Amino acid sequence: MPFVTTTEKGVPRLDSIQGPSATLIYDDWYPALRTDRLRKSKLAKAMLLDIPLVLGRRMDGRVFAMRDSCPHRGIPLSVGWFDGERVTCRYHGWEFEPCSGQCAKIPSLSSHDRLDPTRIYATAFPCEERDGHAWVFIPGPGKKGTSVGRAVPELAKFGARYRTAFLTADLPCNVDHGIIGLMDPAHGPFVHQAWWWRSRTSIREKTKKFEPIPEGFRMSAHAPSGNSAPYKLLGVYGQPVETTIDFILPNRRTETIRCGDKWFSSLTTVTPVTSSTCRIDVVAAWNVFYHVPLVKPVAKFFGAKFVRQDQLTMIQQAEGLRHNPSLMLIDDADKPAKWYFALKQARLEGLGKHPMDGPVELHWRS
Ligand code: FES
Ligand SMILES: [Fe+2]
Repeated sequence: MPFVTTTEKGVPRLDSIQGPSATLIYDDWYPALRTDRLRKSKLAKAMLLDIPLVLGRRMDGRVFAMRDSCPHRGIPLSVGWFDGERVTCRYHGWEFEPCSGQCAKIPSLSSHDRLDPTRIYATAFPCEERDGHAWVFIPGPGKKGTSVGRAVPELAKFGARYRTAFLTADLPCNVDHGIIGLMDPAHGPFVHQAWWWRSRTSIREKTKKFEPIPEGFRMSAHAPSGNSAPYKLLGVYGQPVETTIDFILPNRRTETIRCGDKWFSSLTTVTPVTSSTCRIDVVAAWNVFYHVPLVKPVAKFFGAKFVRQDQLTMIQQAEGLRHNPSLMLIDDADKPAKWYFALKQARLEGLGKHPMDGPVELHWRS
């Protein structure tokens, strides 16, 4: 079960914190919600990049996402009706085809009217289903964006038989803090202490190779660190274990672990809900221990615990960020964060510039 907010004793509620905002990257795909929420003739609400959305699934199976606002008088379309084909506004009954946003009917028009309803459009966004997420392409404000040239993100799979799991957590910080928290190697021993993962005293010196990839960077294929339990588990297959971690703008981290024909793959995204809050989503697939019963609930339990540890830390961090402290990024542990900010800046300025000019080695203790 995905958990949404945290109200643990002494921990501030997510909605009570309003931290500094981040610049947003438009013209890209973001996951809006899980498609199991899109039931027949039901409308679901979501928020992406400060844009209120209404989503649904047409009778023919296609998912759609519209701005949750009627172009007539702005009432949310989500309070209206959906019959599996058209979304009907609750106020004056205008009907819209939800994938294109095209108006199909204005009930008040009489034989004296010249207005052609089909020339009116509600805002509809490109929307595609992948790995159980409804991905929505968000164009820049006031732009009629095109998703051409930007593929819908998808979890890598290396065979037809696999198991999957999904986790989500709302984070009270802006997307930049969510993302650099995700790629930060130095917090592991402190935030993710647990007997089954590793202990704080297991800190050791690491050297990792990174290389530039388009709009991102890759931690080159390497044998994973020996001091964490999940990787030790994979050792039972008696084959070399290799893992590759990519970060790609605007918000995606992919990790693949391969061990002979066994594999584990995950796609983690940090999505701006508003300019000052974000949400982390993890989808994972694997064929390791395929036949072992209970692996899925166990994996989900540990995964949830992991994400929850990050979430709790970021809730605490958000408390501090409220007062706009000045912050720092240090070498080498924060180098990936520096690359992220440089890549983002280049993207926002429309430059093809990459902050890395070749492979580099970073060193840190974790
Ligand atoms: S406000 Fe939607 S039809 Fe009038
Ligand atoms: Fe973490």
